[in-house]
Amino acid sequence: MTLDEFVKAVSALDTHASALVSAATTPAELESARNALLGRKNGDLSALMKSLPSLPADDRREAGAAVNRVKTTIEELLANRAGSLVPVAPSGPRIDLTMPARENWKGGRHPVTVVIEEIESIFRELGFTIALGPEAETEWYNFTSLNFPENHPAMDMHDTLYLSDEVLLRTHTSPVQIRTMQTTKPPIRILAPGNVYRRDFFDASHAPMFSQIEGLAVDEGIGFVDLKATLTHFANRFFGGTKTRFRPSYFPFTEPSAEMDVECQICHGSGCSSCKNTGWMEILGSGMVHPNVLIAAGLDAERYTGWAFGMGPARIAMLRYKLPDIRLLYDSDMRFLAQVSS
Ligand code: DAH
Repeated sequence: MTLDEFVKAVSALDTHASALVSAATTPAELESARNALLGRKNGDLSALMKSLPSLPADDRREAGAAVNRVKTTIEELLANRAGSLVPVAPSGPRIDLTMPARENWKGGRHPVTVVIEEIESIFRELGFTIALGPEAETEWYNFTSLNFPENHPAMDMHDTLYLSDEVLLRTHTSPVQIRTMQTTKPPIRILAPGNVYRRDFFDASHAPMFSQIEGLAVDEGIGFVDLKATLTHFANRFFGGTKTRFRPSYFPFTEPSAEMDVECQICHGSGCSSCKNTGWMEILGSGMVHPNVLIAAGLDAERYTGWAFGMGPARIAMLRYKLPDIRLLYDSDMRFLAQVSS
């Protein structure tokens, strides 16, 4: 080979190298270009160097210098190209590290559940156990056995959701009193939480389905003083010390009947719009179990007496959390629930 031919071959390699390097679009392609050009065994440059000895001895120095120059040029081409290639993400899902982390929701119990469980635990300390009954009830358990007179307005289609002529969705948890007395010998002390249904419009203080808690105590020789002492103890435990009062009332299944009020939890008795300026809020209905109810359940009304009460945990949750609207408890709005759940 002559020096002339050799120099031409060097410049051909220079041109080839710059085309090859700029055609590489990924780091892997650039790596194979490097091998093809500079690879020790079969690279273009080493092929050129192998032909150096075939040159006349006087020309080898110049030829060697030309080879070294093209080697430096190729290395620069490779380095520049590597710097301008955007690395391609490995296959699989792309991870965007600049994305804000997803918010971590903390789960919690619903305020009505919190209230029910707290009421249960206060009565459990007093020896009450939990009793449950069906939500689809017969007219007899829901009304007749509880001493509702025939054609009582509460039985009207406007208040009660009937599933058939005889079967309805219970309008209160009081039928659990009858079912318990039918199957349990006194002494009885039960608490019956559960859902009840009424044909009410959904407004700030009414829901068509809501929860109730029924209580019943039956034994020999118990009276109104036991009712009053137990329910007063409960109110003080639940509200952390509060004034209470009993007002005469009427329910078909109790005689005498009374409603219990606690001091308004918002104004503490001085009068505000929530308590309609009375300073009091009603939390439950109660009374001595009517003898007709004991008899309907098959108990000896001469031997046993009983007292009962019924309350609405959602109403009590409204007092505890000072809520203006009962629908807040049913809307499942996370912004509200996150403030009151625990
Ligand atoms: N069942 C009544 C209602 O739904 C509440 C009630 C009042 C239950 C007095 C009782 C009671 O056990 O003694 O409105």
